Amino acid sequence: MNSLQRAEAADHAAIEELERLVIVKSTIYTSGERDPRQPQPRQDDTGKLYLMGHDPRLPRMPERPTLFDFFRLRFGSANHMLQSARLARKNGVDEKIVLACLIHDIATSGFIRSDHGYWAAQLVEPYVDEEVAFAIRYHQILRFYPDESVGYAYPDSYVRLFGADFRPEPYVHRAYEYCKKHKWYMTARLLTVNDLYSFDPNMQIELEEFEDVVGRHFRQPEEGLGFDASPSAHMWRTINWPTRYL
Ligand SMILES: [Fe+2]
Ligand SMILES: [Fe+2]
Repeated sequence: MNSLQRAEAADHAAIEELERLVIVKSTIYTSGERDPRQPQPRQDDTGKLYLMGHDPRLPRMPERPTLFDFFRLRFGSANHMLQSARLARKNGVDEKIVLACLIHDIATSGFIRSDHGYWAAQLVEPYVDEEVAFAIRYHQILRFYPDESVGYAYPDSYVRLFGADFRPEPYVHRAYEYCKKHKWYMTARLLTVNDLYSFDPNMQIELEEFEDVVGRHFRQPEEGLGFDASPSAHMWRTINWPTRYL
């Protein structure tokens, strides 16, 4: 078999595997597009099995996936995070903040958008300094509040995206009041300062540029993300296997 034939055979096997499976989307994927109270549209499952592992439509993750494996195989473009991390480094901030910049939006690029700072912080909390998780959680909040002392203004992009009249929910305001008085306020603030909202879509930065920072400040579990029984392991597994029936 030449390489083209091998690729065709692999495609064929993947299609056959797909035909034998019932793949169901979690309610949260479709809530809004359909009324979540209604039963899911039924698929014909005669002679089929419900997917309980790897989704054949996705690139397969290694057995012990690392943070960068998730970046390469499950997250959308990391351009924005990479450029923010590079800017943070150029601005000479603490390396922990460079790491925070590198991973601050992993929820929007690979998990759940709504309350993305909270989700991202929770994902990484077992593997980073508490201060890094704090900065990631509250960057979402602080983005809405200017701080002239560091030259941070309310983002023009937010006016365009959400309208000039948009006001954050009361819980956001309460979180801001809390964060403002916290000893790590400036860490979270520096993340928003380096969180580039007009980044260059043509600038290519490789993940490897930050291998050293990740090596020093992200405690990769030996078993791989998702398999180390940490409090967020199940969340990494869900990103790895997003369509498992249970
Ligand atoms: Fe963000
Ligand atoms: Fe961001």
